Amino acid sequence: MANTRKKTRVAAMGDIHVRVSDRGKWRECFQAVSEQADILLLCGDLTDTGQETEAQVLAEELSACSIPVVGVLGNHDYERDQQEAIVEVLVKNHMHLLDGESIIIHGVGFAGVKGFGGGFDRYMMPMFGETMNKQFVQESVNEALRLDQALVRLESGEETEIKKIAVLHYAPIKETVVGEPEEIFPFLGSSHLAEPLNRRQVTAAFHGHAHMGTLQGKTSEGIPVFNVAKAILKKAGYHLPFFIYEV
Ligand SMILES: [Fe+2]
Ligand SMILES: [Fe+2]
Repeated sequence: MANTRKKTRVAAMGDIHVRVSDRGKWRECFQAVSEQADILLLCGDLTDTGQETEAQVLAEELSACSIPVVGVLGNHDYERDQQEAIVEVLVKNHMHLLDGESIIIHGVGFAGVKGFGGGFDRYMMPMFGETMNKQFVQESVNEALRLDQALVRLESGEETEIKKIAVLHYAPIKETVVGEPEEIFPFLGSSHLAEPLNRRQVTAAFHGHAHMGTLQGKTSEGIPVFNVAKAILKKAGYHLPFFIYEV
């Protein structure tokens, strides 16, 4: 029997780093994305310096967006310790911010966490030595566990299996940070984040953070991973910095 299920067009972009002076700058992009996609994903670093006032500008710009917006915070959004106020402003303006949560929109499941660093594959930081080092690794493990739990919640209670998309800020694989200096790879993401992607067989994962990384990669189990940092999409020739993926 032919598959008559309509595809959902997911637009993704990361690292838009909105500043107070950006008022008016994003409206054209958000209008265009609403015409070309069904859902917009924002993969963290929503604000440039983590100020509530920057989030207010983003919220105003997002009023030009008529499709659901799902996102996660990035490390920049934590810079001034105003992350809770940032979340409040954006949620009040109809954005779905995921921090260990999941949501189903148009029959597609989205699970999101910010993620954390820790490095990749055989060079991942080990849980060893000073307490501070262990805390760093633990944060990375915790974020992966929270992603796993958010994905599991999408699996339970559904009669037919829904397609799952992971929304992250930090990278789950090395391949999509290649292009950045190797010395900073441990601060760009962690292989811990790839484990739930493989285990829960997600359809695709989107992240940002590594502005000079690589657009596409795959986990060890072949799950597609996209680094949609604005700078990468611009460099790849996208006039408006969003990447469209059909689910
Ligand atoms: Fe960024
Ligand atoms: Fe970042």
